Amino acid sequence: MGKKIFSGVQPTGNLHLGNYLGAIKNFVELNNDDKNNCIFCVVDLHAITTKQNPKELKNNIRETVATFLASGIDPKKSIIFNQSKVTAHSEAAWILSCTARTGWLSRMTQFKEKAGKDKEKASVGLYSYPVLMAADILLYDSTHVPVGDDQKQHLELCRDIAQKFNKDFEVDDFFKTPEPLIQREFSRVMSLKDGTKKMSKSELSDQSRINLTDDIDLITSKIKKAKTDPLPMPSSKEDLNNRPEAKNLIGIYSSLTGSSLEKCIIEFSGKNFSEFKNDLSQVLVEKLTPISKEIKKLLSEKNYLDEILKNGCEKADKIASNKVKKIHEIVGF
Ligand code: TYM
Repeated sequence: MGKKIFSGVQPTGNLHLGNYLGAIKNFVELNNDDKNNCIFCVVDLHAITTKQNPKELKNNIRETVATFLASGIDPKKSIIFNQSKVTAHSEAAWILSCTARTGWLSRMTQFKEKAGKDKEKASVGLYSYPVLMAADILLYDSTHVPVGDDQKQHLELCRDIAQKFNKDFEVDDFFKTPEPLIQREFSRVMSLKDGTKKMSKSELSDQSRINLTDDIDLITSKIKKAKTDPLPMPSSKEDLNNRPEAKNLIGIYSSLTGSSLEKCIIEFSGKNFSEFKNDLSQVLVEKLTPISKEIKKLLSEKNYLDEILKNGCEKADKIASNKVKKIHEIVGF
């Protein structure tokens, strides 16, 4: 049986290698399997949980669509749309926020990280954001959700919300409990400046990440400057323990080449980092420059991108508004 796939990416600019290896590359593989029904959402409602410049947001929505297409998602096979235009998402999020418990939300580590020290100043939206994410997933009866490791806790919350709703309203199996699809070996791409921190859009230093729009020179210089340790390249998986930067860089290499971690370790065992970094840059350039060129080309075709979103919204709206109608019945509206 095919899978019902749903996933989302925030249009907050600077889509990077972490988004690509943790999520988008996986989207493409799922899209290529004709048995699957895939929906990929540009989650603009999620984006405004932190302050956005409206003009930039508009561009970033198109850039996210362009990135999906440039990476290989086929809009004829998969639904691509933006969340704000399918109003069922906001509506279901409200209803599900009455099912979710504040205790559950208070345990979300991403909120704690994003809100930082001054939690009182964080938006209510940033706090309740995982409920909106649950609405996204549950509206489409999704069976599988491809995400990076950082979203695992949100997926667990989504399952809890689905089960509680089904139980509270005695509607067995109305909301399906989705499975996360997380890369097994390399599920979290780390910062190039600190192997213990996630590669992230919000990190101030651009040197910490490879953006999908970086050109050859930028990729090469960022990898050259990436933090390493003084030891030679590892010769076994155990050698990677307590060497977060080495682990990250070799993980990136393995993920991009599709060669197992063990094989990559043997390939570079005992060599200098500089030699490995040359090969890593080359692989990054080979894989990413066709994508960045295509993103730039697509960005000049605004009408085409808008048309894809419009078509996707129509299709998504049919499914989601039908589910919301049933929710109304169940709740008693
Ligand atoms: P977002 O926009 O932060 O990230 C998009 C996807 O990229 C993955 N990712 C990473 N994977 C590995 N290493 C990294 N350093 C890294 N950084 C980001 C994320 O795990 C994610 O899969 N809440 C979500 C968006 C969302 C969503 C959904 C996802 C909204 N609704 C429904 C799935 C289903 C988010 O903020 O992702």
